[in-house]
Amino acid sequence: MKTQVAIIGAGPAGTLLSLILHQRGVSSVVIERQSKHYVLDRVRAGVLEWTSVELLESIGMGQRLHAEGHRHDRVKIGWGGNEILDIEFEKLAGRPMMAYGQTKIQEDLYAAVDHEGLDIVFESSDVELHDVTGDSPYVTFTAGGESQRIDCDYIAGCDGQHGVSRTAIPDHVKTDYERAYPFGWLGILSETPPLPHLLYANNERGFALCSERNPMLSRYYVQCPLDDTVKDWSDDRFWSELTARLPDDQAAQVVTGPSIEKSIAPLRSQVIEPMQYGNLFLAGDAAHIVPPTGAKGLNLAIADVHYLSGAFVARYGGDATKLEAYSETALRRVWSSVRFSWWMTVLLHRFPDESPFDQRMREEDLAYLTRSETARASVAQQYVGLDY
Ligand code: APR
Ligand code: PHB
Repeated sequence: MKTQVAIIGAGPAGTLLSLILHQRGVSSVVIERQSKHYVLDRVRAGVLEWTSVELLESIGMGQRLHAEGHRHDRVKIGWGGNEILDIEFEKLAGRPMMAYGQTKIQEDLYAAVDHEGLDIVFESSDVELHDVTGDSPYVTFTAGGESQRIDCDYIAGCDGQHGVSRTAIPDHVKTDYERAYPFGWLGILSETPPLPHLLYANNERGFALCSERNPMLSRYYVQCPLDDTVKDWSDDRFWSELTARLPDDQAAQVVTGPSIEKSIAPLRSQVIEPMQYGNLFLAGDAAHIVPPTGAKGLNLAIADVHYLSGAFVARYGGDATKLEAYSETALRRVWSSVRFSWWMTVLLHRFPDESPFDQRMREEDLAYLTRSETARASVAQQYVGLDY
């Protein structure tokens, strides 16, 4: 096969990139390790920055998003037992955010791929990148029991945190910035009505988060020790711990019910620099990981695709400057979001080795946010995301 851009990974980043390139006249083939069903079955994020909403609208994916998404003008933060503060991002930063599950985005992306007749090769294995810094890059892989090769001009590594693309950048070229957090998030889905607003909570027992997927599907999280397993958490224990970490008036509104999904995820911050090497360009989780506290992972993947797709289109129009500057351009937003996600994580979680002084400083931060509209505006601007 021959194509202009070979894309590795059919998650949100790779699929969105292929769609935008197609609409702008650039050909691509997507190579995905898992089956379509497996990718769609993953339970992932649920909050879209307004720039992400606008980008999805621009490629014709706004209809279901607005029909089934839930627009929010604020999030709430519970702290100090029964204190609660509102981050009113529509009032303070001039734009809302949209609660819309990544699963739905992936469904919409695959529906658009099918409608446009684009190429995703699912259940591929042994993917290898070749001649990445040469004039004739190509990708080899096995699919349908046969060895395959795609010759291309460029390779887009959209294969996530466990992907192969980032390993194609030599260790002496790349810098891997990483921080692992000493706790995880235990998340559940329950077919119950969610709270009216997203609610984060810092409590002496630990962090909690109340979110949603639709009017009858709630998504809840509690911070848990890294060595916990879902077997340690019955539904009763989960609901008891969640409500114990919320302000009383919010806990009283939680509608409990059986979990239909329960999983524990570790939290990590990671950035690979540079995000390009020769004819290889990384986008999404392949280049960076953020703790979910800032709701940035999916939005960063979409932002990378915004920059990279524009750079490829400009390149084929005869202007290589954006492609040469892709890594520098994308990393500005990446580092801004990585810092915000790290800051929100330190602000809202309890660390195993922390001192009473640390928690006291945390509560002073939260008290300052409660008192200062200027401080809340700063958080609001970063939470809903900056312009591209
Ligand atoms: N060959 C082919 N495909 C691969 C390989 C490989 N060697 N390794 C990984 N993949 C595929 C994975 O199966 C996955 O479908 O690449 C895809 C990467 O998708 P994501 O991990 O979802 O990453 P991305 O598209 O960047 O989206 C980031 O997804 O993980 C969440 O929190 C993250 O919301 C953020 C979003
Ligand atoms: C979610 O809905 O899954 C969600 C919301 C906000 C976050 C993280 C996850 O910060």
